[in-house]
Amino acid sequence: MTNMNELQVELKNQLTKFCLDKIEPFMEHDDEREEFRMDIFTELGALGFCGMTIPEKFGGAELTYTDFSIALEEIAKYSVPYAVTVSVSTMVQAIINDFGSETQKKKFLPTLTSGEEIGAFCLSESSAGSDASALKTTAKKVEGGYVLNGTKLWITSGGIAKTYIVMARTGEGGSKGVSSFIVRDGTPGLSFGKKEKKMGWRTSPTREVIFENCFVPDDQRLLSEGEGFKVAMAALDKGRITIGATAVGLSQRALDESVKYALSRQQFNQPIFDFQGLQFMMADMACEIEASRLLVHEAARLYDIGKPNQKIASFAKLKSTDTAMKVTTDAVQIFGGVGYTREYPVERFMRDAKVLQIVEGTNQVQRVVIARQLKKEYTKN
Ligand code: CAA
Repeated sequence: MTNMNELQVELKNQLTKFCLDKIEPFMEHDDEREEFRMDIFTELGALGFCGMTIPEKFGGAELTYTDFSIALEEIAKYSVPYAVTVSVSTMVQAIINDFGSETQKKKFLPTLTSGEEIGAFCLSESSAGSDASALKTTAKKVEGGYVLNGTKLWITSGGIAKTYIVMARTGEGGSKGVSSFIVRDGTPGLSFGKKEKKMGWRTSPTREVIFENCFVPDDQRLLSEGEGFKVAMAALDKGRITIGATAVGLSQRALDESVKYALSRQQFNQPIFDFQGLQFMMADMACEIEASRLLVHEAARLYDIGKPNQKIASFAKLKSTDTAMKVTTDAVQIFGGVGYTREYPVERFMRDAKVLQIVEGTNQVQRVVIARQLKKEYTKN
């Protein structure tokens, strides 16, 4: 574990207690039933964890991305779905805080920072996943605002969120024709499609978000027309750090469970921990987790000192989510037969790991981002 300051230790301890009391007892049940508990989110908000990086004047805790990463790691040890809900809702707040007008910030941030409400990010569509700038949802200019038409897919917290950041086309094809809007639940013409039946993250609802002649006033557009793609990409640079932190928390929990189990399970008259084959697996798990954590913290630190680095953020997301997949798969292996059953949580960890390699830009997209940066660095002069 990397060094933490006093505040970070305090935040972490507060979250451990909260998660053990309020989240852990329900996770198996809620995963099975695909249930999200708004009261858990609201209580996290009351403790200051739902708008950690947002300025205090808008109700946030005004802390750093390093502090936020430590908090998300802790929540993810108990529940990846709640960690992701907090992560995406905070990304929405960061968009409003970074690109919104003073009026937009005052109007839309306080209910999000307090945790009374959840934010959702609407970029992906059926034919615009990795190729995000191919999106087809339109925002047609009319008097006083825009009329949105189209369907967004795979929206985390779709249906339970109240504030949606929506990327829609106001102009030409490609990234330059995209604008971004703030749309509130309850706006006529906004509706939700079916809830996806997912392999993991079952506690976090994922839905289609549908716009049918949905009128959004001018004062809910962020920045100028055509600047929406940059808004989305800049937000994802931060989202990739926080998804990385979530992956580290999940991996750490999988290792914790594996070591405890390996020390207690006897086979051939000795704890299975004493077999070198398993020791090597657990040593590799520990080493990969620490490497991932260091990358996440470095990406966060660079952001915190005002030198955000897209390449390091992609390193962090790529490394930590690939590690989560490997570590949780190995955890199931260490548990053996029971690891494959719902008697122990490691099968859930493995299911929750998979989509971390897909969301906020697939790990193939992370490699594209990294390679483009390499090309820039090596062809500078
Ligand atoms: N910050 C600011 N601007 C950026 C930027 C960034 N990080 N990245 C790109 N841009 C700008 C570029 O400078 C360029 O502008 P100019 O033409 O003025 O220079 C413009 O945006 C277009 O950039 P590219 O040419 O690089 O765009 P591209 O079409 O080649 O796409 C891509 C690049 C990296 C593949 C991008 O499409 C991408 O990230 N795709 C993945 C999408 C994604 O991550 N989706 C996640 C969905 S949300 C989610 O999963 C959340 C959840 O629910 C958990």
